[in-house]
Amino acid sequence: MVIITTKPEHLSGELNLPGDKSITHRALLIGALARGITEVRGFLDSEDCRSTIGCLEALGVKINRRANRLFIEGRDMKLAEPEQVLNAGNSGTTARLLLGILAGQSFRAAVAGDYSLQQRPMKRVVEPLRLMGAQIEGEGDRLPLEIKGSGLHPINYRTQQASAQVKSAIILAGLYPAGETTVVEPYRSRDHTELMLAQFGAELKIEGQSVSIGGQPRLKGSLVRVPGDLSAAAFFMVAAAIVNKSEIMLKNVGINPTRSGILDALTEMGVSLEIMNRRLWGREPVADIAVRGGAFLKGITVDGELIPRLIDEIPILAVAAAVAEGRTEIKDAAELRVKEADRISALAGQLKRLGVRIEEKKDGMIIEGESRLVGNNVESFGDHRIAMALAVAGLAAEGDTLVHNAEVIGISFPGFMAAMRSLIN
Ligand code: S3P
Repeated sequence: MVIITTKPEHLSGELNLPGDKSITHRALLIGALARGITEVRGFLDSEDCRSTIGCLEALGVKINRRANRLFIEGRDMKLAEPEQVLNAGNSGTTARLLLGILAGQSFRAAVAGDYSLQQRPMKRVVEPLRLMGAQIEGEGDRLPLEIKGSGLHPINYRTQQASAQVKSAIILAGLYPAGETTVVEPYRSRDHTELMLAQFGAELKIEGQSVSIGGQPRLKGSLVRVPGDLSAAAFFMVAAAIVNKSEIMLKNVGINPTRSGILDALTEMGVSLEIMNRRLWGREPVADIAVRGGAFLKGITVDGELIPRLIDEIPILAVAAAVAEGRTEIKDAAELRVKEADRISALAGQLKRLGVRIEEKKDGMIIEGESRLVGNNVESFGDHRIAMALAVAGLAAEGDTLVHNAEVIGISFPGFMAAMRSLIN
């Protein structure tokens, strides 16, 4: 599928974003482990989340859908031995978090993924889970992997990367043995797993970059209201910021501080963002965000602890940087090379095709800014966020921008183009 975007007069209107992807995965997985029914309101109905649902159903979990609600019948920690390979599709979160849960089961299971997921690093979860006692086999410690759970023991583990997927896999495995499992990260990554487990009744201790979970808690099925996905909202924040005279309102967006680096970065660049109506949905902070276009934008430096707080927003941040005045430098972001695509090389290659002066670095990129964008044919490289970022860049370009292989947007945001069209009038 090809999508085509051109310069609109302005963007205006109100959007309700789809449910948060990270939180939807966690509601499904933790709901499956709890006792009783978990109701998930406003879940994200996208390919990645369907991968999690498919794996859980193969593990004997009953999940019913009524309108935009899911009802999960929890299995009180014990899943059923699957008769088929568990297919995580394109979803790193599904594969990694599921491995943590499978480590605590008493059967053997195989986890596979699509071509992109098979290239992504799994050693980062395999290593700590082996230390806890799981047997895991697979070529080069990549998918497909076979895992045999067992009586795990707690560990105290220091991760190499700030990765919520790795941290969550260890915490989920840490639910099984008696005693306390601790994960320490170089920087703090998103904490949705911790917040949700606490809501379901687990005992957690959080001190700086260290998270400890008490083993064998009683998890009780709960109501989860999934906030709108800030990572989806970010595409529209930048779209409105780079199209003059735009004025949009994004409703019910999750603004968890471990995730909200994009709000800090865009504010520092000069984007006019107003965060209103702050409240909590369960333990997750939510707000409405008004964005006004036409403000003067300037380049910034993005690095260090900010990186894990906006890792998924770097593709769209690069688009804002392309039109801002002055240089934007993105550092300490080598993780971008092992996402759904190598996002550093994909962004550098494709933004150049639109006229952006961008230099690829080992752990990031330098964008010179004030680019006059010109429409062209560009490629998603099978990466949903690259596709959406390029489509937004097309809104600031002269002529048509054609984004090829854009069907991958369905991984996280099936209604993206419809939402975009609803703002162009
Ligand atoms: C996610 C964590 C991040 C992020 C991904 C979703 C999660 O990955 O990039 O899109 O839901 O835990 P890492 O944990 O690999 O940094």
